[in-house]
Amino acid sequence: VSDMLIDSFGRMHTYLRISLTERCNLRCHYCMPPEGVDLTPKPQLLSLNEILRLAYLFVTSGVDKIRLTGGEPTVRKDIEEACFRLSKLKGLKTLAMTTNGLTLARKLPKLKESGLTSVNISLDTLVPAKFEFLTRRKGHEKVMESINAAIEVGYNPVKVNCVVMRGFNDDEICDFVELTRDRPINIRFIEFMPFDGNVWNVKKLVPYAEMLDTVVKKFPGLRRMQDHPTETAKNFKIDGHHGNVSFITSMTEHFCAGCNRLRLLADGNFKVSLRDPLRQNASDDELREIIGAAVKRKKAAHAGMFDIAKTVNRPMIHIGG
Ligand code: GTP
Ligand code: 5AD
Ligand code: SF4
Repeated sequence: VSDMLIDSFGRMHTYLRISLTERCNLRCHYCMPPEGVDLTPKPQLLSLNEILRLAYLFVTSGVDKIRLTGGEPTVRKDIEEACFRLSKLKGLKTLAMTTNGLTLARKLPKLKESGLTSVNISLDTLVPAKFEFLTRRKGHEKVMESINAAIEVGYNPVKVNCVVMRGFNDDEICDFVELTRDRPINIRFIEFMPFDGNVWNVKKLVPYAEMLDTVVKKFPGLRRMQDHPTETAKNFKIDGHHGNVSFITSMTEHFCAGCNRLRLLADGNFKVSLRDPLRQNASDDELREIIGAAVKRKKAAHAGMFDIAKTVNRPMIHIGG
């Protein structure tokens, strides 16, 4: 383990998010326009071998958790092989995936066998017609099936990410909480964040304090649990409920100070491009140096809730959450 992953604020980065693809089988309003986004030409995307070579460098430098994101990671044909090979990296403790759950149910048993240790499934509404509106596709039922399948194969908890938007799904908060009563579901309410092209509007943001108030009124037994210092979620338990409830307060109480994450994008971007050095046969040491320099450039915090809309310049789908 070197100091490659320590930034200039002394934060050690042990969590790497890898965007496996920019493609997605949904078209969520808050993520992209109806026609989708411009895709990077395939030859410019990292191959699985290239991803593995970089992942190896990160894990041997101290990363112990990798999360696969997208776009939608399961649209990649080699997703099982990706899990299988990544999970074999010595020192990796967690191999997680964030997915929209559309085609997950049938892939799950294989993915679990291939070493995937946890899944976070995105679901913003329990009403099929609203799902169709938001994602511009059908498939609500399939996502529900995937959540059940994830529980069945033994993931515990199954995290469900719900981006709360005023006037769209803020009336469903307590219905989502109900899901935790009998099942090992961790419902995570996420404050809506600005991203390029998502028509962000401060009026759509439902602040954490307000969401909490809504839940407490209906579930007075809600109590705060101890959180890990690097965790982005504030976690709560309701007496008698099997699962739990969390809030991700990216806007009103950002958690940048404890941030331990890094992002590798599908086109090899990691604040700098790693693709070109990879393809110009850089040695491991040269790659480590480039990665280390990029980590050192990490900023202390994001720009804050009203400036952030001006500073983001890539659509969410490219960043992978
Ligand atoms: P766990 O590892 O299970 O805690 O999941 P996670 O929250 O790290 O990942 P997930 O992909 O489920 O993301 C949930 C929400 O957190 C999404 O809305 C992301 O946009 C947001 N998020 C993830 N990473 C970051 C980050 O580094 N900074 C900020 N501000 N938000 C993030
Ligand atoms: N604000 C907050 N979260 C978002 N996500 C996508 N767009 C936004 C946004 N504008 C969530 C997805 C997924 C996770 C990776 O990021 O719903 O759960
Ligand atoms: Fe796809 Fe997720 Fe974007 Fe929706 S938010 S279009 S599921 S990548």
